[in-house]
Amino acid sequence: MEPVDLSTLMRGLIETYPNLHADNAEICVEGELPLVLANEALVTQCFANLLGNAVKFVPVGRKPHVRIRAETRNGGTKVWIEDTGIGIPKQAQSLLFKMFQKLESKYEGTGIGLAIVRKVVERMEGTVGVESEEGQGRRFWVELPVAQVPEQTA
Ligand SMILES: Nc1ncnc2c1ncn2[C@@H]1O[C@H](COP(=O)(O)OP(=O)(O)O)[C@@H](O)[C@H]1O
Ligand SMILES: [Mg+2]
Repeated sequence: MEPVDLSTLMRGLIETYPNLHADNAEICVEGELPLVLANEALVTQCFANLLGNAVKFVPVGRKPHVRIRAETRNGGTKVWIEDTGIGIPKQAQSLLFKMFQKLESKYEGTGIGLAIVRKVVERMEGTVGVESEEGQGRRFWVELPVAQVPEQTA
């Protein structure tokens, strides 16, 4: 575990994956994202999966819109990944983080992404969840400890 700058990490992901590029998806990072105490490889994997889903599960022909923001308090931060895609029925939300669970066969995928997300987040002693109202967008969140950076001495 080490301090990981989430703003840098998100920028890196957007540059790395063509499906996250500006011509394919509108991804906006709201405000500054904090430094978290995390394992860089695991937290990268986590947000790569969540962003990949956010731009994938949209109606055919619609450009994905994704908003990333963080709420920081009491030594922890909750990072929200909100999309305006097809949504998730309420009764299915608890199933999504299980291995090989897919709700929509017409979208490509193996159904293991969110199982990995849950696993890596738990290894970093964080939590992950989803909120989705049908027709009102869906938002996944990941809660992680904020990194305590020693104050700079001039
Ligand atoms: N942002 C999202 N919007 C709508 N449905 C989603 C979203 N993210 C995940 N899902 C649903 O959860 C399932 C599991 O996600 P995941 O484990 O990443 O599998 P995969 O992406 O391989 O299908 C998906 O198949 C899809 O039905
Ligand atoms: Mg996936």
